[in-house]
Amino acid sequence: MQSLKQVAAEKAVEFVKNDMILGLGTGSTTLFALKKISALLKEGKLKNIKGIPTSVQTERAAIELNIPLSSLIEFPDVDLTIDGADEVDHNLNLIKGGGGALLREKIIAQASKMEIIIVDETKMSSKLGKKWAVPVEVIPFALGSIEYFLRDLGAEIKIRVNEDNSPYLTDEKNLIIDANFGVIENPSELADKLNARAGIVEHGLFVGLAHKVISASDSGIKIFEK
Ligand code: A5P
Repeated sequence: MQSLKQVAAEKAVEFVKNDMILGLGTGSTTLFALKKISALLKEGKLKNIKGIPTSVQTERAAIELNIPLSSLIEFPDVDLTIDGADEVDHNLNLIKGGGGALLREKIIAQASKMEIIIVDETKMSSKLGKKWAVPVEVIPFALGSIEYFLRDLGAEIKIRVNEDNSPYLTDEKNLIIDANFGVIENPSELADKLNARAGIVEHGLFVGLAHKVISASDSGIKIFEK
């Protein structure tokens, strides 16, 4: 039986056309999309795709799946990106970065003509922050100051660690603080505050970046659009 993540992912792949420059998201949901794209390429049903991965993890998976890769240097303008999310509200704002790839994910989302987010329905939320903390990527030098800053904004914070308790490092060798703000009434206002603080490289609030959200549930697929 197909999982709901797979159902959402395969629906998104219907939007992939020949000759596209494709942003490849990160996470278990996106992996189903990568597998489907790989199968379509193998069958000759899809041709001349160039993928731009949002993480080292996705780059490795795409290489294994024989998806041709390129970069933003060669193709700064991305036709379509398919990516997952951790929490999605009904305005199509997102929390991302559960997998630590928020920086490259946001760079590629901003470079994309179309950003499709694929989720199972458990990720849908009436207000961001109800289900997930906001991952904040921080330059190690700034750590203490940013911890203080986030607490001052009202967040409960945790520095992300690996299974062996060593600090988790992103692909860019930065740290992640998971900042739990509780329910976020105004994601755009909070995003502005985080954007304005030196030492925060990026954060997982994706405001106004998703064009479509494909959400799969036992009763079918829903597509939310801007
Ligand atoms: C990666 O940093 C995240 O933004 C992922 O897109 C998100 O965590 C979704 O992951 P799953 O598809 O594994 O739930």
